[in-house]
Amino acid sequence: MDKSVMVKVEHISMKFNLSSEKFDSIKEYIIKSIKRQVSFDEFWALKDVSFDVFQGDALGLVGLNGSGKSTMLKVIAGVLKPTKGSVSIGGTVAPLIELGAGFDMDLTARENVFLNGALLGYSREEMERHYQNIVDFSELDNFMDVPVKNFSSGMVSRLAFAIATIGTPDILIVDEVLSVGDFRFQQKCESRIRSMMEGGTTVLFVSHSIDQVRKLCNKVVWLEHGELKMYGDVKEVCDIYSQSYK
Ligand SMILES: Nc1ncnc2c1ncn2[C@@H]1O[C@H](COP(=O)(O)OP(=O)(O)OP(=O)(O)O)[C@@H](O)[C@H]1O
Ligand SMILES: [Mg+2]
Repeated sequence: MDKSVMVKVEHISMKFNLSSEKFDSIKEYIIKSIKRQVSFDEFWALKDVSFDVFQGDALGLVGLNGSGKSTMLKVIAGVLKPTKGSVSIGGTVAPLIELGAGFDMDLTARENVFLNGALLGYSREEMERHYQNIVDFSELDNFMDVPVKNFSSGMVSRLAFAIATIGTPDILIVDEVLSVGDFRFQQKCESRIRSMMEGGTTVLFVSHSIDQVRKLCNKVVWLEHGELKMYGDVKEVCDIYSQSYK
């Protein structure tokens, strides 16, 4: 059977403008920018990156800090618009990128479940059906009426992960979120991701744990200073990757 392309990344480049000066105040910045005395350094976080992800693949993205992994995932998820190139997506996407970014910290966990459900496009009735599953999975039964600002960062991640994974997306995008919770919760997240994969979900996965990448993924993209250094089968790329940074 021919596997179909779920994510097609074509010649993606991403430029950020970094202000090369420091300003003492907003006022100084505004005056200088009116006088056009502000200069920006161009910084290319991604440089002409192309690859395909096929249906059912679990693709790992590896590379050192700052190599462009999160930027790549954000471009694929549609959070960032690339400076050049294009991304085509063959289905629904659930991005687990900045867990808890959609939370209102002053609201309780319960209120955030419904708020985030609405942001994800679920109706109130659908969220009511999923509610108990979210509470059970995150194991926050006693904390649902507590404002999220009083949560530990691990608790925020657990709640956010539970909410973000209620549906079965065609494509799941996971950026390092497995490293946030404690060990036992990581196992739970991993097995939820696995069961999505068994259901046919295509996964894009960033982790600094090469062991985790070896366990979960079949393909790997290796980024270095924003460039595609290597793309191939998990063993081949991970072997060379771990050798090269020894
Ligand atoms: N919004 C932004 N504005 C300016 N520069 C940015 C922005 N987002 C990312 N960058 C820069 O782009 C580069 C790539 O960042 P990115 O977060 O994609 O790296 P990463 O591979 O995910 O790193 P890490 O392993 O630390 O998570 C970095 O040098 C970063 O400083
Ligand atoms: Mg990152």
